[in-house]
Amino acid sequence: MARRKIVAGNWKMNMTPSEAVKLCADLKELVKSDEVDVVYCVPAIDIVPVVEAVKGTNVEVGAENMYFEEKGAYTGEISASMLKDAGVKYVIIGHSERRDYFKEDDVLLNRKVKKAIEAGLTPILCCGETLEQREMGVTMDWIRLQIKSDLDGVTADQVKSMVIAYEPIWAIGTGKTATTEQAEEVCRGIRQCIAEVYDDATAEAVRIQYGGSVNAGNAAELFAQPDIDGGLVGGASLKAEFGKIVNYNK
Ligand code: PGA
Repeated sequence: MARRKIVAGNWKMNMTPSEAVKLCADLKELVKSDEVDVVYCVPAIDIVPVVEAVKGTNVEVGAENMYFEEKGAYTGEISASMLKDAGVKYVIIGHSERRDYFKEDDVLLNRKVKKAIEAGLTPILCCGETLEQREMGVTMDWIRLQIKSDLDGVTADQVKSMVIAYEPIWAIGTGKTATTEQAEEVCRGIRQCIAEVYDDATAEAVRIQYGGSVNAGNAAELFAQPDIDGGLVGGASLKAEFGKIVNYNK
């Protein structure tokens, strides 16, 4: 069965609650699609108003982060069950900005992945190499390490419904997209890694996005690759251009 494409916006630390509601209204008609799953991953404070603003549309809401504990004395954190109760469907886990600026490591991210799944959320698990790693020729070794560590103890059936986002760090917010060949090569490598750790059926089912300077001009070619099942979009998700990315094949 063909995998359904998924295009997710990663708003990062942009949009106040009132700006968020306006953006939802501005994008509403532009992001309509019967073929592609559309997700807005939004700052925690925007979740409640955005869930309300996209009611009755084809858009699902995602969070950009969560904590793995159920509840308790973790000042400033948000749990998976809080997200679930607020109407969130997806949660980005392990974005390179969280790994880098907030020192999130694979042991922590593995706990987050497992907790998200347990709470009924779909993780969008991010992985990706630095420019130095690419130049050293260790890209795939690095990404296999990330995937294997972050999915430790996650079952095949759970992986099947997950999303993995390949985001080369050097392509994020830089306007420097990976070439279609580079993006496809790593997404194929991730699928092979899943096939080795799990089985072919799991590898065939899991959806793998590309992220890093996706825009209206490069989305169609990237998403046409056999192992790229859509995109995780930063900068261009805050503009009307996001509608063109969702409807890349029109
Ligand atoms: P970008 O960000 O599209 O602005 O490069 C992508 C991401 O970080 O998810």
